[in-house]
This record gives sequence, structure tokens and C-alpha cells, in this order.
Amino acid sequence: MWSPVSDKYPSESGRRRFVKGIVGSAALSSVAAGGSLVLDTATSSTGAGGGTVEYVGIRNTDGPAPRGLPIVPLRVTDSGHLEGRWPDPETITKRDGTEVTVAREDVGGITYDTRWFQYCGVQSLPGIAPDAEADNSFRVKGGYDWASSLEQGAKVAVEDFEGYEQWGNGIGQDGLGMPLNATWRTPEEGRALSVEILRTPELPRMIAGEGPYGNLSADVRSFLDAATAQDCMAWVDKCTHFCCVPGFKSSEYPGAEDAVYCQCHQSVYDPFTPMKQSFVALPRTD
Ligand code: FES
Repeated sequence: MWSPVSDKYPSESGRRRFVKGIVGSAALSSVAAGGSLVLDTATSSTGAGGGTVEYVGIRNTDGPAPRGLPIVPLRVTDSGHLEGRWPDPETITKRDGTEVTVAREDVGGITYDTRWFQYCGVQSLPGIAPDAEADNSFRVKGGYDWASSLEQGAKVAVEDFEGYEQWGNGIGQDGLGMPLNATWRTPEEGRALSVEILRTPELPRMIAGEGPYGNLSADVRSFLDAATAQDCMAWVDKCTHFCCVPGFKSSEYPGAEDAVYCQCHQSVYDPFTPMKQSFVALPRTD
């Protein structure tokens, strides 16, 4: 049975130098759901890198959450480990002359922008600044019985998901994929970002738009093709309502058995229907 696991700093990580400071709990609690902020804060002196942003996320299908969970584009390294993609930072000069550092790149024809993750206090995490040096490896956090044999904080390997084509936990339908909670953008100090990984045999059909996935748009399918690898996909593990930690196959709540469920106020997200969405990203605090 799934259960949330508190954030844990991994025992070891690759690059450790960290260049941005972490802020206190007041900023972390500055929750704003969806479009409740109307400022374009990209040029605000009180912060940087906010503003309206389009993203691809797994769809919110039920409950009070205002929008879906942002997908984290990933790759598989030569050693067979999973890591999230973080574009090279660049400094741009805005029309008013101010300079802003951004991290964005084309992923399958869609602009992947690290502002996708700036909500629910995530914007205050040290590893989320565009030019922060942080570990891009997904690292084991756990959350599921099958993962109890994995070392906490170890790099997640594709081969960890052995048997993913048949896996089930007694909730919903077996064979839809194997989930794992992980951390990402691990900084020198402070908390990493939490993500959920799903290795699912459905991904090739999603990318091809076959069967029940015929309604996925061509641009989202192109993005999925570029943002996933070896049947693995990932999304930010932070409910867009009030920031609880949802989980795939975590509840028998009607309609959530084969979806991502947030136990706080019964929001449901469907990882099998990613879609383009938009929101107003909160400014970073750097
Ligand atoms: S539904 Fe309210 S925090 Fe997730």
C-alpha cells in the first residue's frame, strides 16, 4: 500500500555545489493555486521568473485541483539510470532592460521551461533556480512496498522496475505500470523536488495515439516521445490544489484506482491523458 514518505536528503549525490540560498517556511507556505495570481512577475523586483507559462501535465479529472501535474522530461543515462532534464541556463534581456536567467529548451516541439515547477513552494527550493547546480538524477524515495529493497537516496535505474508490465498492488487493474516516488534537483543544502516516476507499457500506445489514446493531441504525443524513455515518465509530486502529495494507485476512491489520487481533498489526475495547460508561475525568491 502506498504511503507518503517525508523528504529525505540522499546520502550521496553527484554535483554538490549549490549557488542559491533557501528561504524559510513563510515563502514555502505561499501557496497559490492555478491562476489566482494575476501579476506577471518575470520583471518584478520582488522576484524573478514568474508569469504565465504553458506546460504539459497529466490531466486533473476530479476534485478541486485547478490543473494537472507538470510532467518532468527525462532521459536514461549510459549507465541505465533515470534523470530529469534541466536545460542549460541563459540570460535574456527583457524589453525594460532587466536581465532574467531562464532555463528552457524545445522538447518534441513544445517549449519546456523550468517555470513549469514554480508553484506550491517549489519555486523556493534551491535546486529550482535556472542556474542552480543540482543533481539531476532521480533518487529513490520509495513510497511503495515493491521499492522497499531499494536503497533510499540511490540513483533510480530503469532495471529497478522489473516486472512493470504485470505489476499491481491490489488496487485497480494490474499491468498499467509500476510507480516510484523519487527526489530530483538535489541541491548542496536544502530539500530536493519530489517527483513520481511511472514505468508503463502504455507509453508506446500513448505516443502513437492508439486505442484509448486517440484523443491525445499530436503535439502532446510528440512531446511525450521526446520527454520519456524506455516506457518511463515522470511528473511533479505536488497537488496543484493545496500541495499535498498524491500517488498513483494509492486509493480505491471511485475513479482513482488507476490514477493519481490526492487524499487531502480527493483530487484525481490521470497519467494516461497528458495535455497542454497553462498557469501563472510564482516568482522565484532569488
Ligand atoms: S486535493 Fe487538496 S491538496 Fe490535493
